[in-house]
Amino acid sequence: TTKKFTVEKIDYIYERLRTQITSNESSITSQSYVFFIIGASGDLAKRKIYPTLWWLYRDGVLPKNISFIGYSRSQLTIEQIFENSHKYMKIQEDEHDIYEKFLKLNSYISGSYDKSEDFENLNSKANKISHQVNAHRLFYLALPPNVYESVSELISKHCRPASPGWLRLIIEKPFGKDLESSNKFSQHLNKLYTEEEIYRIDHYLGKEMVQNILVLRFSNRIFSRVWNRDSIAGVQIIFKEKIGTHGHGSYFDEVGIIRDVIQNHLMQILSILAMEKPRSTTGEDIRDEKVKVLRCIAPIKLENVIVGQYIDDKNVPKDSTTPTYAQIILFIKNERWDGVPFILRAGKALNERKAEIRIQFRDVPGRMFDEELSENNVERTLARDELVIRIQPDEAIYLKINTKRPGEMNFSIEETELDLTYNERYQGVKLPNAYERLILDVFMGSKINFVRSDELQEAWRIIDPILAEIEKKKLQIIPYKFGAIGIREAFDAAVKQGFIYT
Ligand code: NDP
Ligand code: BG6
Repeated sequence: TTKKFTVEKIDYIYERLRTQITSNESSITSQSYVFFIIGASGDLAKRKIYPTLWWLYRDGVLPKNISFIGYSRSQLTIEQIFENSHKYMKIQEDEHDIYEKFLKLNSYISGSYDKSEDFENLNSKANKISHQVNAHRLFYLALPPNVYESVSELISKHCRPASPGWLRLIIEKPFGKDLESSNKFSQHLNKLYTEEEIYRIDHYLGKEMVQNILVLRFSNRIFSRVWNRDSIAGVQIIFKEKIGTHGHGSYFDEVGIIRDVIQNHLMQILSILAMEKPRSTTGEDIRDEKVKVLRCIAPIKLENVIVGQYIDDKNVPKDSTTPTYAQIILFIKNERWDGVPFILRAGKALNERKAEIRIQFRDVPGRMFDEELSENNVERTLARDELVIRIQPDEAIYLKINTKRPGEMNFSIEETELDLTYNERYQGVKLPNAYERLILDVFMGSKINFVRSDELQEAWRIIDPILAEIEKKKLQIIPYKFGAIGIREAFDAAVKQGFIYT
């Protein structure tokens, strides 16, 4: 059955990962690994990193000789760290033994983010714990960006493994707050690390449906032939959240939805959707194409930007101009896409949580089925074809098409869907979450799903002028109510670009 097939397939993939990671180095040469969580006392570590490491360990996909070291300033024990994380770990009844084993592989060290001696101490403790000075080392910086520079410098200075051990540095966004600060941080990192060693996380690249875009586009002739301005009328990339700024109003006030979601997550999706076919599936070939298409994006016109703010967050300062909702319409000046609007829309505090891509095709030429009411008045009877890739919730790909209404005489047409809803088609298959995939990618040295510095630079180049205009208060911030569907002006702007809502 389908179910059996797909479950086996996933098992097969895990098995491949297992052998790739464990047999190559660890069991043959007894190579050890140390995974450092810097900022172990924090929110990201508690909610995402520790649970993810636990699930990967439980599923047997991590190297055999591994230890985990948490590091931050707070005086804590590893038991306290695990207590804080416990409710996110979802430990099952029959998993207690293996959980105990995982716990034993973990330790915690407290120290500053700016003193050499603390990182020397971290280094010697790590050597002791892993019984090797040349263990491979992975550092996850789960820290606020104000300490990135000093921490990355001290790690490079004091915590590098002896050869042949390698070092990989995982960094979370924000990568700067504008082009200048992002470039400055990139230059800082480049002095200390090779690009090879740096893994910039954009967790949307770890989502199943985002990873699927590449396969969908380049393994189906039916799509590859129409993936251009001749057939596509417009593309929408939509992010909606029900939650507001999580009570982080003052933090969010310096960031806003454009920096928080559009500059990274939506721009990444756009680049994969619009890029040319990469030469191969290697990280460098794919990222080369992503950068190339970003370079073709024309400067955004102010009239193609709509920003809004929901009105009832008490944490947001009164005079704040930070958008919690934004729509940006972009144009890609190349042969494939010239004239096709790419609409990037993101909002917090809306009516639902949803992330999706909607690719709307042009009208069928010839209008054979349209009903002529009078000479200049034709009633549209055909809806446009639309390919929808739903990233979350409930992963799905569906193609909206026109068919003959079953059983009816004549040409009675209705819109229906060719529907690939994952819950139905792949029942029983557990999709790993984004962090599971991405952390595993780092172990394997796969760069496909991480952001390269030139991609980052391009994304900032595109967004930066808009942020400057918002700061200069050149754009009117449209208020909206918590729980709204969106902002009317944004939908109107999409319609103006030729998008048809059916
Ligand atoms: P936290 O605010 O929880 O900070 C992590 C740790 O850093 C804290 O436990 C604290 O540890 C230390 N810290 C906090 N503030 C400061 C400060 N001003 N100076 C020095 N150290 C400080 O951050 P998160 O865990 O939420 O996020 C970590 C990184 O991940 C950030 O860059 C964030 O933008 C990014 N991120 C977070 C997400 C999340 O869901 N939380 C999602 C996506 C990205 P101690 O005092 O013990 O040293
Ligand atoms: C983060 C943003 O990058 O993505 C958050 O900083 C947002 O503001 C989150 O809530 C959304 O992620 P997901 O995976 O829940 O869609």
